[in-house]
Amino acid sequence: MNATIPAANDDLVLALPKGRILNEALPLIRAAGIEPEPDFSDPASRRLQFATNHPNISIIRVRSFDVATFVAFGAAQLGVAGNDVLMEFDYPEIYAPLDLGIGHCRLSVAEPAEMVKTDDPARWSHVRVATKYPNITQRHFAARGVQAECIKLNGAMELAPGLGLCRRIVDLVSSGQTLKANGLVEVELIAKITSRLVVNRAALKTRPTEIGGWIDRFRDVLDAA
Ligand code: PRP
Repeated sequence: MNATIPAANDDLVLALPKGRILNEALPLIRAAGIEPEPDFSDPASRRLQFATNHPNISIIRVRSFDVATFVAFGAAQLGVAGNDVLMEFDYPEIYAPLDLGIGHCRLSVAEPAEMVKTDDPARWSHVRVATKYPNITQRHFAARGVQAECIKLNGAMELAPGLGLCRRIVDLVSSGQTLKANGLVEVELIAKITSRLVVNRAALKTRPTEIGGWIDRFRDVLDAA
């Protein structure tokens, strides 16, 4: 396998999110016929871009929010992104044709367990929340007539109520273990989340056969599952 990163103009870059989605995405990527070079699976490797079995396709491994940014700006033509990320940024340059059926979780409002007994979400008029998702949060609460004050954090939102930063958080919940371990309880669902195949719209327009071909291959993989 050629381990050098291709540099020609016909390069295709596939942006994948680090973390747990990656493990779920890889079998689909492989089933679609893209095999990353061995270094990709080496946790000790500090590299961020990897060759594949296709001379013009490389894979980059970035933070989930950054997948959307790389694809929106056309620095990557293809990617895998959760609809939490897509909803938060709402980039018109991103087309998200396929639900990959991976990364199932939900975006929820949570608060301390002892608060739940006396708190009634139907009576909220103003909330202060810590979140990585200020845009989704504002939209969600505005739609139900609640004024939301968001404190932007990039992780460890679950610490915020205990330390007095705010009483509530908006965050992803998967198994619920992180909330439980930090004495929090889900009180309102904002959205169900899965990961989607995303493409840069301009790249799809200029290279319809190639990029459309990859969308079809992923669709075939999903249909066969
Ligand atoms: C996410 C999320 C929660 C946790 C929920 O964080 O922000 O903290 O997962 O998962 P659970 O319900 O299964 O406990 P992640 O581990 O992806 O790291 P992050 O803080 O970097 O986003």
